[in-house]
Amino acid sequence: MCIRDRIYTLLTVFVFFLSSIIKTQWSYLRLVGFLILVLSVNLILLEVLWFVFGSVSQSFPASPFKDKAYYFYLLPFAYGSMCVTFLAGERCAQIFTLFFSALAGHSVGTDAYGFFYILITNMLGMIFLRNATQRIRLIAAGFYLGLSSAVLYLFLQIVGQAPLDVMSGSFGASLAFLSGLLNIVCLISTVPLYERIFMVTTEIRLAELGSLNLPLIRNLIRKAPGTYNHSIAVGTLCEGAAKAIGLNPLFLRIAALYHDIGKTFQPEYFVENQKNLNPHERIGCEESARILASHVTGGISAARKARLPSSVVDMIPQHHGTKLMKFFYEKAGREAAASGKEVHEDLFRYPGPKPQSKEAGLILLADAIEAYHRRVPTRKVNDVIGVAQAAQPGPHGAKILYATQGATDPPTFTLFANKTIPASYLRYLERQLKDAFGLEATPIKLRVRLRGS
Ligand SMILES: [Fe+2]
Ligand SMILES: [Fe+2]
Repeated sequence: MCIRDRIYTLLTVFVFFLSSIIKTQWSYLRLVGFLILVLSVNLILLEVLWFVFGSVSQSFPASPFKDKAYYFYLLPFAYGSMCVTFLAGERCAQIFTLFFSALAGHSVGTDAYGFFYILITNMLGMIFLRNATQRIRLIAAGFYLGLSSAVLYLFLQIVGQAPLDVMSGSFGASLAFLSGLLNIVCLISTVPLYERIFMVTTEIRLAELGSLNLPLIRNLIRKAPGTYNHSIAVGTLCEGAAKAIGLNPLFLRIAALYHDIGKTFQPEYFVENQKNLNPHERIGCEESARILASHVTGGISAARKARLPSSVVDMIPQHHGTKLMKFFYEKAGREAAASGKEVHEDLFRYPGPKPQSKEAGLILLADAIEAYHRRVPTRKVNDVIGVAQAAQPGPHGAKILYATQGATDPPTFTLFANKTIPASYLRYLERQLKDAFGLEATPIKLRVRLRGS
């Protein structure tokens, strides 16, 4: 097989593995960039340490300390594959290990036993990281990796029939044990950098962000319990959808938990936190729109202040995109028509940007669909119907006397009327209810009952 065929074969294997990886927060391009960077960092690290260990070994007068070959076992061979496991998943780390072991063996000039040692320690590193769902478990993973590397070292010495006395055996095994800890030190110190560069967040960090003890979440529960319940419901919807379409369920659950965090600044202006009074009735439409939009800008600054990962912060502006706040825009339009003023549409739009990723699109959809299960207090339904009828009275004296939400899934409103309501006027009322209660993306049902029926 010529060199070109080999390269093609390697690339085919690489692409096959990449395409079979369950995609999380990665795009293929960023993933390939990440793998190349980790591979380069790990190889450079090996070269530098190999050189340093060579110099250090010269300063000792006697064997085994003087023998550079022993220091091979102190090199952090598993660092790269552990990084990849931690940030991009085990499947991805498996293909990384194949490439890395061949290159690492070549760069430090080892034999078949050395190559085997590199390959096995890489695989062990992946296995021990598998259950590291808390930071403390990373240290344990390093400890177990060190222990098994020491056993592997002794095993290879025996199999290779190398001269092995107590002194050289314990020296080599100790170095192999220390390499496990060195791998973890390198991992812990560089992972935050990779997270920043490639805009991904580790599962450990995400799991920590779900804690109810974090000040941001405690504040949300205390000040805006309705929003907290809404965020949990959106997270549950996103989690299920993410599993079905191969996105990261944990990331989506956590991003959904924080998507409306900005509502804690003025919670009473958002329908899910209102009890009796609707404070929007006391202020102008432009002011209402400004407050609604401020839950996005305020959310971003609160999330940044709490040092949330940028991938989570990005979901905050994107979950509304540049959507128009139709209810207030149209209300402002009616008021302006009466006074002859002009209404600027820009003042009634969320700042955006529109969803830039599948994850953001999913949160936007789940945010809208969550309203499917929402129940609106009767007083508010009647307020909206009252305002709608005042702005545009029903034709030929048709009037809604009383309205209530009879059911959810989908939201179903029952309107008690004095006479038959024309379909066009019902469509108008439906639009008003949808806009007022954030049900734009949700199909709703209207039932009309005539007085006395
Ligand atoms: Fe929102
Ligand atoms: Fe929301």
